[in-house]
Amino acid sequence: MMLRIYRVRECTSTQDVARELAEDGWVEGTVVIADRMTEGRGRLGRRWIADYGGLWMTVILRPKSVNNLQLINLAAGLSVIEGIKKLYRVPLGLKWPNDVLLEDRKVCGVLSEAKFTGTTVDYILLGIGINVNNELHGALKDTAISLKDYLGFEIPTQPILTEVLKNLNNFYAELLIGNTDDVISKWKKYSVTIGRSVKVYTSEGVIIGVAVDVDSDGSLIMKDDEGVKRIYSGDVIHLIHNNG
Ligand code: BTN
Repeated sequence: MMLRIYRVRECTSTQDVARELAEDGWVEGTVVIADRMTEGRGRLGRRWIADYGGLWMTVILRPKSVNNLQLINLAAGLSVIEGIKKLYRVPLGLKWPNDVLLEDRKVCGVLSEAKFTGTTVDYILLGIGINVNNELHGALKDTAISLKDYLGFEIPTQPILTEVLKNLNNFYAELLIGNTDDVISKWKKYSVTIGRSVKVYTSEGVIIGVAVDVDSDGSLIMKDDEGVKRIYSGDVIHLIHNNG
């Protein structure tokens, strides 16, 4: 995949800019990057505060098959964690499906939006937001953290961008040829969800149990009083802190 960077100073959301470009036929590998977003979006209709200093990007992907949608999400979080870990010594972990946590607070979130015609994917807008140097205000500080907060100095964003995109490019290429093992096994290596007691909000209701595994399709396997359950999408809350 050839990467092309489309940089804007400010926009509502890089997802909006990328959608327009995708509709206009811009190719896979187009990366929209904004210094600041005024209406950044998070998962599940939440807002994503995106001031100057962070890394806010959306990558346009056009995979031929939809088999990999969830795995692409996992690959995004994985690309970020490996990208940052290559540059800095930071205790990062992955919360299913694709939050990157630093000491239990969120340093990166991933939002993917797909457009279909029938059952074929027209495009996926893979949005990645990394709190690098941006200031986090108010209550957000309880749940989010920036790399700068943790490391104590200003971090150049360009090397992080380069590493993350390089990883994403590699993992995406693997997924396209059906090689899912690498993404899954690496994802599990960084997982802070597997083995934890969790509460998961799904469209079918709330499930409380233990997260036991992530399957080869990227789904979360949980065990609760009723038995084993497989979750494809949901919002996970880690219940008990696990130092292990
Ligand atoms: C989440 O964890 O809720 C997902 C957050 C995703 C934020 C990124 S920043 C770049 C892209 N543009 C957006 O408006 N959101 C995503």
